Amino acid sequence: MEDPPLEQQVDAIRNAHRQYRLAPFVAILREVLAHWGSFEQLGGIDVLELGPNTRVEMMRFLETGVGVKSIRGVGRTVVWPWVPHRAFIRDHVVSCRFLPFFERDTPSRFDLIYSRHVMEQHSIHPWVLLTSAAYWAQFKKKTCADFDESYPSSVPNIQATFKAAWNALRPGGLIISQIGKRKYGCLDETFLATLDPQPSAVRRRDMGSLSSIVTTTK
Ligand SMILES: C[S@@+](CC[C@H](N)C(=O)[O-])C[C@H]1O[C@@H](n2cnc3c(N)ncnc32)[C@H](O)[C@@H]1O
Repeated sequence: MEDPPLEQQVDAIRNAHRQYRLAPFVAILREVLAHWGSFEQLGGIDVLELGPNTRVEMMRFLETGVGVKSIRGVGRTVVWPWVPHRAFIRDHVVSCRFLPFFERDTPSRFDLIYSRHVMEQHSIHPWVLLTSAAYWAQFKKKTCADFDESYPSSVPNIQATFKAAWNALRPGGLIISQIGKRKYGCLDETFLATLDPQPSAVRRRDMGSLSSIVTTTK
């Protein structure tokens, strides 16, 4: 018997695992399923989420509902006392800037790296910006028009992050980047070509008039 269409499979998963509140991650789930075929294939993989903040529903689903080998998150995260799943966040999310994480974590290798509303300009939490020395240094110099890699969530910073993630990806692995506002997206074709993925290794799908999802296979 033929498998049902991808959209139906994703809906079925979302309905079967309602307790995880997977609706915001449907587009990412779809890409995962399109690549691996079924969630049973994910048992042995190492996964990293970039910038989950406190929205750890997909991470919890991958750990408990799917049973991946390992799941981690990284990104500056402010955990207020009323946020749910604080213990999970404490155990799974490293709260730091992306580039230092990849610099000190180079031996780690991942099969799947995904992000939602991160690979675009201005995705940094305002509180993080205001407490960042790099922000104030640039602000004082009044060079906001040409931020460098150290400026959180600028185009060079996000592109350097993507490059570091690419280096941390195992061959055959996948980076899925859901972009909330594609006009601020940092993953243009010219940049992705510098990483040398085959043209067929990049899939770009628009979602409505604002958003898009970029999937890159190594
Ligand atoms: C717009 S939020 C998205 C949060 C979550 N993924 C969601 O879908 O609701 C972007 C997150 O990425 C983090 N972030 C963005 N740029 C970062 C950087 N350069 N280093 C560390 N964290 C960063 C922010 O602090 C924030 O938690």
